[in-house]
Amino acid sequence: MSDPSPLEARGLVKRYGDLVAVDHVDLTVDRGDVFGYLGPNGAGKTTSLRMLLGLIRPTEGNARLFGRDPLVDGARALDGVAGFVEGPRFYPYLSGRRNLRLLGDLDGGVASSRIDEVLDIVELRDRAKDRVGGYSHGMRQRLGIAASLLRDPQLLLLDEPTTGLDPAGMRDMRGLVKRLASEGITIMLSSHVLAEVEELCNRVAIIRKGRIIYEGRLDELLESAGGGYVLRTSEPERARTLLLAHGIDGAELEQGEVRFQAEPAAVEAVSIALGQAGIGISALVPRVATLEELFLDMTEHEAVA
Ligand SMILES: Nc1ncnc2c1ncn2[C@@H]1O[C@H](COP(=O)(O)OP(=O)(O)O)[C@@H](O)[C@H]1O
Ligand SMILES: [Mg+2]
Repeated sequence: MSDPSPLEARGLVKRYGDLVAVDHVDLTVDRGDVFGYLGPNGAGKTTSLRMLLGLIRPTEGNARLFGRDPLVDGARALDGVAGFVEGPRFYPYLSGRRNLRLLGDLDGGVASSRIDEVLDIVELRDRAKDRVGGYSHGMRQRLGIAASLLRDPQLLLLDEPTTGLDPAGMRDMRGLVKRLASEGITIMLSSHVLAEVEELCNRVAIIRKGRIIYEGRLDELLESAGGGYVLRTSEPERARTLLLAHGIDGAELEQGEVRFQAEPAAVEAVSIALGQAGIGISALVPRVATLEELFLDMTEHEAVA
């Protein structure tokens, strides 16, 4: 038997009256993942994370953290797990260090040296004596991570950690997430920023209106949409007709370019045919879809369905 996954959700549902905020969500986060939970505002990310952390009760389904169910095992289910939803809460009139001290005491006490360590990790050591009320949003987010780290988590759940930060704050937060991941902490983070998930995550679940529309490895997702080519020419209409005549069925015109899917051998054959037909090629390049295109694609298809 292998160890239980850090996080497993099966058939999670949350209803608020007639609204289905989370609709039969299945998720598996494996050890070492930086797992991106991607979806637009209102998709159900925070509600999902609340259920995963045992903060609210699912209408149906269950969540397990390292094999333990927060609803069955209580606080013990959160051993080795830390995180916060929609921003951490602190006493604004107390210093960062004092807030961490209080949180540590609630958890059964924590050494001053450990508080220094976590303040170092999030680069707040030099501001630790200042009142949290005077911290920027980014500093508060980082203090939230410091508070999570006091628990020495193996799994860290972060709800839109970069939302609302300025560009420098975002860069720092992404750097921090990478550092924590490189130290072996499994991370699940929600985001509505596609580029961020592409930058940080190895696996992703895309949620839309409470439903998961994709879950899997990020590289496989990007690959599945790859294999296509873009052809640029001054005669795109003629080029497209020629491609169709050569059996490349899906060839289409988009933004003045011809886009199509084909095996490399077929691409070589049509490039020769294009030349013979007197159609010049200014570019013929493989197309790598960005997550953004895929995301739009998926959500559009869903809207049609
Ligand atoms: N306590 C609540 N009562 C009623 N509706 C809620 C509650 N919490 C969330 N919702 C609704 O559930 C949906 C999902 O919200 P949320 O999980 O916060 O989305 P996200 O975090 O992806 O932006 C939204 O339509 C939101 O208005
Ligand atoms: Mg949210």
